[in-house]
Amino acid sequence: MRILITAVAAMLLAAPAAAQVASRVAPILTTPEARDVWTHARPEIARVTHTDVNLTADFTAKTMTGTATLDILAAPGAKEIVLDADDLDIASIADAKGKPLPYTMGADDPELGSALTIQLNGATRIVIRYASKPGASALQWLAPELTAGKVKPYLFSQGQAINNRSWIPTQDSPGIRQTWSATITVPADLVAVMSGERIDGAKGRPAGKGMHSFRFRMDKPVPIYLLALAVGDLAFKSTGPRSGVWTEPSMLEAAAYEVGDVEKMIDAAQALYGPYRWGRYDMLVLPPSFPFGGMENPTLTFLTPTIITGDRSNTDVVAHELAHSWSGNLVTNATWSDSWLNEGFTTYFENRIMEAVYGPERAAIYADTDWEGLNRDIAAAGGSDAAATRLHGDPGATFGQLDYFKGSTFLRTIERTVGRPKFDAYLRSYFDRHAFQPQTTAGFLADIRANLIKGDANLEALLQLDAWSYGPGLPSNAVHVVSATLAAIDTQREAFVAGGPASAVQTRGWSTQEWQRFLVPLPRQMSAARLKELDETLGLSVSTNAYVRSAWLELAIANRYDPALPSLEQFVTHVGRGLLIYPLYSGLMKQGDWGRPIAARLLDKARSGYHPTAASGIERIVHPK
Ligand code: BES
Ligand code: ZN
Repeated sequence: MRILITAVAAMLLAAPAAAQVASRVAPILTTPEARDVWTHARPEIARVTHTDVNLTADFTAKTMTGTATLDILAAPGAKEIVLDADDLDIASIADAKGKPLPYTMGADDPELGSALTIQLNGATRIVIRYASKPGASALQWLAPELTAGKVKPYLFSQGQAINNRSWIPTQDSPGIRQTWSATITVPADLVAVMSGERIDGAKGRPAGKGMHSFRFRMDKPVPIYLLALAVGDLAFKSTGPRSGVWTEPSMLEAAAYEVGDVEKMIDAAQALYGPYRWGRYDMLVLPPSFPFGGMENPTLTFLTPTIITGDRSNTDVVAHELAHSWSGNLVTNATWSDSWLNEGFTTYFENRIMEAVYGPERAAIYADTDWEGLNRDIAAAGGSDAAATRLHGDPGATFGQLDYFKGSTFLRTIERTVGRPKFDAYLRSYFDRHAFQPQTTAGFLADIRANLIKGDANLEALLQLDAWSYGPGLPSNAVHVVSATLAAIDTQREAFVAGGPASAVQTRGWSTQEWQRFLVPLPRQMSAARLKELDETLGLSVSTNAYVRSAWLELAIANRYDPALPSLEQFVTHVGRGLLIYPLYSGLMKQGDWGRPIAARLLDKARSGYHPTAASGIERIVHPK
């Protein structure tokens, strides 16, 4: 077997870049640190190069039913291919001519799902007939009440990190890039959108029995976690020559206004790091159960509706997901052990876009906010020596958002050390060199040493690259960007904490980040009278800004402040964004006999409205094993 592995690795890795583009087969990495422990696939023996799905959405049964047709590149003599499958109903597996192929479904691992091992018998294309189960972890099937329109159902998928195997049997590893195509059949009153190019017009084509079909394709090799689907009562509004927004009709105007700076952001991003390579950049604003702020699905960023506050003060999320078009989607972490290569690079890049579009102070506000988050996360992880503060580690082991905050601070520190022009030129060339390829921490370090440091021992010592990449805590050269706007908020908060009246706090025109800076560092112990004063004066319990509500409720929970409970209940039963609700459930669980029953009751009430990944995440908080 060793010979086979070497042979195919050589075949895939030695092919010149041009040939890989021509054949559309992206290389896989075979170095030890690029081995993905979150997949059953063994791509060095046989790998998927293209996934085609033809699926019908059944909103009554909550299943996707149809076929996955996989194109396979196998090493000479390879007998089988191993796929990832999580709780799928397999009806049959055959080659392209319909000849059945023997297969086995391995034991179900609670995290990874099963290994689906198929005997190839020489086949280079296999056809799997199957259906997803109603509980598929990637898919949320929303009853009409959970939508803005309240009349039609809705479906959306969330692939990252390893959920897509619950509705598509393929090799679900970020290091195994594939092109894909899809035919999606849905009830005729609903519209399907996907993270690829739409082939037919926006209306789809009749498919009989009150159904119609939409076809899509992604002709650039991508990791399969970036394949995404949404189906609902969707309308589209253009926001510029290459961008637009999809959402339910009643939200279309507000959504289009909120993301209206997107074309400027695309221009800024391209000026920094080179051409946007994905064709269109559209966005989909989802129902409030969407479990993230945003998700960088190529050509179609998914966004939470909680960014719609009417003042464009949360467009950092758009800048962030757009930035992933380079860091993450073009150059992708080979395994989830190196997620900082996606999220840290993107958080840095996001800030550069924000600076280019809105100026240095707005960018400083975000960078300073992230610095606070960085230090909070390090403390919560157990301090500067804690293993969970390392950027590279076991998948999912980096604490909180440290892959974002420590990763972006690392890049900013390099930028300040070598100077912007040099670092910008380097990053631009980095994206070109590794476009449409997987990357590891070791690969990045080798690249920056070869192309930026070039043997300069003094620079090497200044940067502390290994300490940043592999060590815990914060290296001594870390750069902290200070925002004057937030410093003024600190002054106001300190006056309030010292006993000043809430009525003296000047909140007019505060952005989301200023509100957060006021609320988050407030002492966790406050009297009921002060909480009441704060709430009534600043309107916190009734705030329609979800970020403000979440920060206030976290404080209220820490103080077992009962008057905030109706606001809490309303919030967690309407918003499913993890970042805004996980801290509320965790906070309740820390409040013993007072908080635990509340957490359990709220989860019971809210669970059916959450995406499966959010529901199981909160389940782990509220009912730990
Ligand atoms: N790719 C992430 C979302 C994600 C992370 C999905 C981990 C699954 C596992 C996305 O780009 C992201 O980082 N979203 C942030 C927004 C951002 C502005 C920090 C979020 O959801 O809050
Ligand atoms: Zn991200």
